[in-house]
Amino acid sequence: MIPWTLLGEAAIPNDGGVLRLTQRGDEFSIHLKGARGELMNSRVRCSERALADLGCAHIKQLENASVLVGGLGMGFTLEAALLATKASTQVTVAELVPDVIEWNKGDLGECAGRPLDNSRTVVYQGDVSALFKRKKQAYHAVLLDVDNGPEGFTHADNDSLYSLGSLRAIRETLYPSGMLAIWSAWNDPKFSAQLKKAGYKVRTQMVRAHKGKGSRHTIYLAAKS
Ligand SMILES: C[S@@+](CC[C@H](N)C(=O)[O-])C[C@H]1O[C@@H](n2cnc3c(N)ncnc32)[C@H](O)[C@@H]1O
Repeated sequence: MIPWTLLGEAAIPNDGGVLRLTQRGDEFSIHLKGARGELMNSRVRCSERALADLGCAHIKQLENASVLVGGLGMGFTLEAALLATKASTQVTVAELVPDVIEWNKGDLGECAGRPLDNSRTVVYQGDVSALFKRKKQAYHAVLLDVDNGPEGFTHADNDSLYSLGSLRAIRETLYPSGMLAIWSAWNDPKFSAQLKKAGYKVRTQMVRAHKGKGSRHTIYLAAKS
């Protein structure tokens, strides 16, 4: 068995703890130091890609669309968003931890085919929630995968991202035909109800972690109208 090698450690802003990047052969892991658990593993990428495929399905043929991905992780959702949309679509990726962006510029970036190098990618280093206060009708799709589901995991501060007020603010940043898609390791009907209360039309889709097998993950698909 190949042992894990520590490639990097990064402080999560606002006393959020420590993220670690480790490698074993061609497998990478980003996890929270201590007992908090794994955030991302390079062997498990199907549902991260499905988040973009499902969340961008309505803008496949749209020119000059605008997509927001929060956060970067290993870049699979970003890569899939670039592939799922027209060459005129701009994809902004928001990442809270500066080191995660640096890690993706190194060997880790190979996992998803270096999506940061794509000229259509715009990187925002900071909390994705800051972008929801900036401008109304800025995005055709918002793809969120910053925790393991709709509750703060990377950082307790992320709890507020899934509040009614925040979901309404996200809705304001969407174009009328826009879609909010959220990745989750579980299906919580109470969160679907919360999305409906915020004004969205909601459905969920179960996706597998690996092609046709593995853990069952949920994508919440919340249409603005
Ligand atoms: C589960 S990983 C994302 C995996 C990604 N979908 C992929 O395809 O690799 C979560 C990422 O979101 C980042 N993150 C956590 N909270 C955030 C926030 N509030 N704003 C922006 N990025 C955040 C984490 O640092 C981490 O890189």
